[in-house]
Amino acid sequence: MSEVTSKNITWHGSNVTNAQRQQATSQRGCVAWFTGLSGSGKSTISRRVEQMLLDRGVFAYSLDGDNVRFGLNKDLGFAAMDRVENIRRIGEVSKLFADATIITTAAFISPYRAGRDAIRAVVPQGAFIEVFVDTPLEVCEARDPKGLYQKARSGDIKNFTGISAPYEPPLHAEIVLKTAELSIDECAQQVLDYLQANGFIK
Ligand code: ADX
Repeated sequence: MSEVTSKNITWHGSNVTNAQRQQATSQRGCVAWFTGLSGSGKSTISRRVEQMLLDRGVFAYSLDGDNVRFGLNKDLGFAAMDRVENIRRIGEVSKLFADATIITTAAFISPYRAGRDAIRAVVPQGAFIEVFVDTPLEVCEARDPKGLYQKARSGDIKNFTGISAPYEPPLHAEIVLKTAELSIDECAQQVLDYLQANGFIK
């Protein structure tokens, strides 16, 4: 984690405890962090989880790779350092959302293990749920929903994850989704089952 750049700043603690927030919303926040290759199904499944939770009256919010790059992170590209900063910022946002008792589903390639571990370290114990969307590169490339793999192979896109940039798969993910073998609903249900088994939803 990098040093704080600003001088003469003071941290102000809140008057409200997280327990009070939980009481007000009857929820315990967490971050379900979907990581995997482009085209692996991260966004689709995380949005399905969000929808299923909202259908049950649970306050959930989905943060998504491409969309965040239109706003908060519009100054960042895909060079290694930009990806590190991308994930660091989204990690901080996810932490705030979870603190606000929202069940947050975040879908980002997040290719570096260290970056994901850094988010785990700042979220309360047990509230960071790493979801490995374990779809083989060949399957992602065959799906190629945005035509990006084709561009990466022809050299039109540089630093493309899985082709010309690295992806470090999780070693101890809480949830592993085999999207090549299961349907979107089955994968989403697997996440809901975990949330239920760990007391985040009833
Ligand atoms: S991350 O590596 O910084 O975590 P992020 O999840 O925000 O990536 O964005 C990934 C999305 O950006 C991909 O799904 C794809 O649509 C698009 N994209 C554009 N260029 C690249 C690239 N060089 N590598 C990977 N994804 C890219």
